Amino acid sequence: MCGEVNVLKRKKVSIIGAGNVGSAAALWIASKHLADVVLVDIVVPHAKGKALDLQEALPIAGVDASITGTGDYRLTKDSDIVVITAGMPRKEGMSRDDLVKVNADIIKSATKEVAKYSPKCILIIVSNPLDAMVHVAARVSKFPKQRVMGMAGTLDSARFRAFLAEKLDVSVQDVTAFVMGGHGDTMIPVLRYANVAGIPVEDWLPKKELEKIVARTRNGGGEFLPLLKTSAWVAPGIAIAEMAEAILLDKRRVLPVAAYLDGEYGQKGLFIGVPVVLGKNGVEKVIEVKMNAAEKKAFRKTAEQVRNVVKVADRFI
Ligand code: NAI
Ligand code: 2OP
Repeated sequence: MCGEVNVLKRKKVSIIGAGNVGSAAALWIASKHLADVVLVDIVVPHAKGKALDLQEALPIAGVDASITGTGDYRLTKDSDIVVITAGMPRKEGMSRDDLVKVNADIIKSATKEVAKYSPKCILIIVSNPLDAMVHVAARVSKFPKQRVMGMAGTLDSARFRAFLAEKLDVSVQDVTAFVMGGHGDTMIPVLRYANVAGIPVEDWLPKKELEKIVARTRNGGGEFLPLLKTSAWVAPGIAIAEMAEAILLDKRRVLPVAAYLDGEYGQKGLFIGVPVVLGKNGVEKVIEVKMNAAEKKAFRKTAEQVRNVVKVADRFI
């Protein structure tokens, strides 16, 4: 035996809200061998049941990870990342902004508990209205802004990429594209930077087709409401895992996330979707891409829309 044993400790991700999105995120995070997962829910049997189901899947998947379901925040102690998916999803006829009061209260109480037990964690907010809920979590946690962010851009960009690949009949792997702005109807799928293996999509598809894809991306979340009577969870789950992976493995991925702007894009004091470098410290850098006049105008519009929801959310903090 050697004198010194090098014990590899697994990372820990806690997910608050063991509903559709929370449990899908747990599945993707575990299946990527990223971390042990603690699922917390106000409905404790639900959290326990989701965790048990996942735990029983792991031997087949060949994954060594501990998955715990609980209502007790003490079990989240010293998490590396905490993801908040607790709250109401949209029902048919509702906009994301209709959820502001009920979800602001939930984010507030969950964030207080999270900050108490994991003061050094990185917080990823998922609950809607997304950008305003990130603002609530940042104010309540008082964490450095680099450690508080929202997931929406990775999901919206995946939808944008999926629709482009489908229309062009090419591999999704070769489609690079991102979405900026608030997670709502004013989001900006950025056509000018979208490309297939370096070839601009604007050179491949007629403007009319591209406009349809942009509109479908903007309504990407809404498309599910008449189909499922609630919002999506599989793609949101892997979009969360993509961010967790970038952070836990310090990959320095360039991903769109709802990050704090301190003058970038002409905005100060606002969380909104922009491309960032994501690594072990959270948002390592906000990337300011060059925009033309129309894109700048669209960004001002989406920022204004987010600020209006933030104003409402501020009343509940
Ligand atoms: P869901 O209803 O399936 O799950 C929500 C869970 O939160 C439930 O299990 C509920 O018991 C739990 N919960 C409620 N209050 C709680 C509290 N105080 N503490 C702990 N747990 C609590 O909803 P789903 O589909 O998982 O969506 C969750 C949120 O994520 C919604 O606000 C939805 O709009 C949002 N969402 C955001 C996306 C994004 O891209 N940012 C994508 C998809 C959903
Ligand atoms: C989504 O985009 C509803 O925000 C949720 O699927």
